[in-house]
Amino acid sequence: MKKKQHKEKDLSTDQTLKPTGSAYHIPVLLQETIEGLSIQPGGIYVDCTFGGGGHSKAILAKLNEKGRLFAFDQDEDAKRNLPDDKRIVFIPHNFRHLSRFLRLYDVTAVDGILADLGVSSHQFDEAERGFSTRFDAALDMRMDQRQALTAFNVVNEYDELRLHKLLEQYGEVTNAKTLAKKIVQVRDHVLLKTIDAFKNALREVVKGNPNKYFAQVFQALRIEVNDELGALKEMLQQLPKLLKPGGRVAIITFHSLEDRLVKSFFRRGSFDEPEVNPFIMEEKVNELIVITKKPLQPSEKEIKENPRSRSARLRVAEKVMMV
Ligand SMILES: C[S@@+](CC[C@H](N)C(=O)[O-])C[C@H]1O[C@@H](n2cnc3c(N)ncnc32)[C@H](O)[C@@H]1O
Repeated sequence: MKKKQHKEKDLSTDQTLKPTGSAYHIPVLLQETIEGLSIQPGGIYVDCTFGGGGHSKAILAKLNEKGRLFAFDQDEDAKRNLPDDKRIVFIPHNFRHLSRFLRLYDVTAVDGILADLGVSSHQFDEAERGFSTRFDAALDMRMDQRQALTAFNVVNEYDELRLHKLLEQYGEVTNAKTLAKKIVQVRDHVLLKTIDAFKNALREVVKGNPNKYFAQVFQALRIEVNDELGALKEMLQQLPKLLKPGGRVAIITFHSLEDRLVKSFFRRGSFDEPEVNPFIMEEKVNELIVITKKPLQPSEKEIKENPRSRSARLRVAEKVMMV
């Protein structure tokens, strides 16, 4: 049976909700995340999504001089936010290669891992990155600018069915089939190179509020371009082996597709539905214990101060002491 996605859309992508304050990114659920990680002062920590470095700085503040922090971000721009601190190492790569890059530093087990998923405010607010429907720019949307695939390739080269499915699944676009058909019709005559050209060419199939509609379409394209769900799955699968017994993982998601993967992996160590078969007695041993029975969400105060935090959900798990 097809699962119902919760209707809340990724408000971090809402073009009208620009936070005030920190220019690069305001960290969300900061205190809750740091508490959830239950930081050991001399421990080894990983921030999978360094961004503006807000969470990393709070982790460093809890570490003593022996503690270490490995900060990943596939966007080179994030590097400019690195604090002058010899305890932190920046790794400008996708967190899907977490264990592989840590091994280069002789690290095979860590005390805590954080991932604050999605795009930073900086990426949304830089017109030329192509993430925002507010600006006109090339259809890009790559977090990692070394990567070949851009939103231009997805829009102009994917076949109709593939476009339909990704718009439906990643953006919950109500008329995904019609939109995919229209994209294919239009691009037979003219390549869709820019955000304005894309929006103008598709105006007649827009359903409801155009801002909301294109925010959903852009969310779908962005998830595809950056293979966000694939990277998340690969990272989650590395956690049980990488965490020390008693080590913690904290993950902040911004839409139900991500949250469902995290919830399922934390609970069952897999992404599949549990098999209902009375003849199978063997239970899969899960190496993670769920700490947050329900995901933590931002307070009204935080949402007021930073509207982009509204759809954030934090889940925390701990590696069991002994299996
Ligand atoms: C929401 S921001 C993180 C903000 C950060 N916690 C802070 O306090 O400023 C997400 C960041 O993670 C990066 N990112 C997203 N997916 C990634 C991946 N698969 N691998 C590496 N970096 C990723 C993005 O480039 C972006 O800079």
